[in-house]
Amino acid sequence: MPDLELTPVARAVMEKRYLARDNQGNIIETPEQLFHRVARAVAEADRMFDPGASVRKTAGAFEAAMTSLAFLPNTPCLINAGRPMGQLAACFVLPVDDNLESIFQTLKDTALIHQSGGGTGFSFSRIRPRGDTIFPAFGASGGPVSFIELFDSATYIIDRNQVRPGANMAVLHVSHPDIEEFIRAKTRQQGLQNFNLSVAVDERFLDSLERGGHYPLIHSRTGAVVGEKPARKIMDMIAESAWECGDPGVLFIDRINRENPTPGLGRIEATNPCGEQPLLPFESCTLGSVNLTRFVSDQGIDYEGLERIVTLAVHFLDNVIEVNRYPLRRIEEWSRTNRKIGLGVMGFADALIAMGVPYQSQKALDLAEQIMGCIQQTAAAASARLAETRGSFPAFGHSVFPEKGVMRRRNAAVTTIAPTGTISLIAGVSSGIEPVFAFELQRKVVDKVIEQVHPLYQACLDKGQTPPKEIFQTAWNVAPEWHLKIQEAFQKHTDNAVSKTVNFPADATISDIRRLFDQAAAMQLKGVTVYRDNSRQGQSLSACPVR
Ligand code: CDP
Repeated sequence: MPDLELTPVARAVMEKRYLARDNQGNIIETPEQLFHRVARAVAEADRMFDPGASVRKTAGAFEAAMTSLAFLPNTPCLINAGRPMGQLAACFVLPVDDNLESIFQTLKDTALIHQSGGGTGFSFSRIRPRGDTIFPAFGASGGPVSFIELFDSATYIIDRNQVRPGANMAVLHVSHPDIEEFIRAKTRQQGLQNFNLSVAVDERFLDSLERGGHYPLIHSRTGAVVGEKPARKIMDMIAESAWECGDPGVLFIDRINRENPTPGLGRIEATNPCGEQPLLPFESCTLGSVNLTRFVSDQGIDYEGLERIVTLAVHFLDNVIEVNRYPLRRIEEWSRTNRKIGLGVMGFADALIAMGVPYQSQKALDLAEQIMGCIQQTAAAASARLAETRGSFPAFGHSVFPEKGVMRRRNAAVTTIAPTGTISLIAGVSSGIEPVFAFELQRKVVDKVIEQVHPLYQACLDKGQTPPKEIFQTAWNVAPEWHLKIQEAFQKHTDNAVSKTVNFPADATISDIRRLFDQAAAMQLKGVTVYRDNSRQGQSLSACPVR
């Protein structure tokens, strides 16, 4: 087994959140044993397809991939695999229909998912608007925002003693009559702390935006057109709120549905909490990320090594679908029907630094496309190979694959770029595809403050050199449109979506943010999220539950 090399931050995070404990709260495993436990539990699935399978050999390969920090699955898998809870997915979407029974059933399901370490996304677009009649009580509905507040309070209570508080995403379609209330919902002090908000915009809205025209508001209960709004005014309002507090983001919902692999099973209306995983109601997804810094050699990226780890990671994540203990029967059914997995990357910015490539450069865009293109192709091929012995995912016949000439696929989707908020701390690399936040910083991890100097930055200092500014770019040195260009380069080769925050300096204006939304609308993206420095209280560098 390779030696496990953890930074002090990684050790602190693992001790506080990941390592198994006994009933008295004493830690009863080492980080090495954690990876052994996870590898064994996940490899066990091989036996379900082949009673003679060498589970020990597969477990050894999984363990080596994690111990070398070349691949890590999402947090619930690291915490729960091989333990009684056994729930391994980070991402869930649940339906919210326009009646109290559905709303409170979903609230209960949400509680169960959060208890198991997962995060939940919902579309509230079906809820009737504020002030609409309620039968038979003849009262007036509080509208979607009042129910989002209900979910926010409930999850706050469930999550406050959790090792990992579950995050939430509320989506509202831009044609909902309550859209303005929704857009402003988080600008109020201390409102909706456990929620990210996203406005789902469709092509009709984007056309009106371009033309400077109006688009219709549609009554969510009756389907009638009940008014219209100037698209530009609504986009201005989104920009203003995002400037003030980072929310809402925007989801390009028609683009998401153009790439829905199973349109016959319904439209996608929502994503998981950080936006990278569009899902149908009751679907779940386990994410996993390849640490790109492990594949940098003197000659550039080691594509052969990358292909090997991607093939192994697809095997790992497909096994997770088998061994996962789902929190609800319907989630199990839907997750097994489409078998979506989300393999992505972390340490992209660090890999660029190691190769001497500026984040804000054409070379970085080319590398992003080459790397993600390789991962996408290899993952799709690995999924097709798994299908030879394990069978295609059950909804394959209803998917887009047969008409594309794809003969078999084990998974309806294979790639996702996750934020990797915590697993990148364990791997000791830059998170997801984000630029480095700062090269020298004090990081507050759980209850400790740990001083950190970026290892490549330190290496330069040790050699008596001044780290070159063009290579050591922080998130704030990268121009906002370049954040988007990197996001687009990855999105081109990603089945699901891409988690990316476009950082703005504290003195950015509302028009700066508004312009960026226009640029994003013209690009091939599935969503956009912005954050202006210092616009949220309690800004922390450690993984935060909401963006
Ligand atoms: O690094 P880690 O595996 O812990 O998670 P991440 O990549 O930062 O986040 C992946 C997904 O996990 C998010 O999009 C959420 O669906 C979920 N999550 C959550 O529910 N609660 C958190 N505190 C963090 C993440």
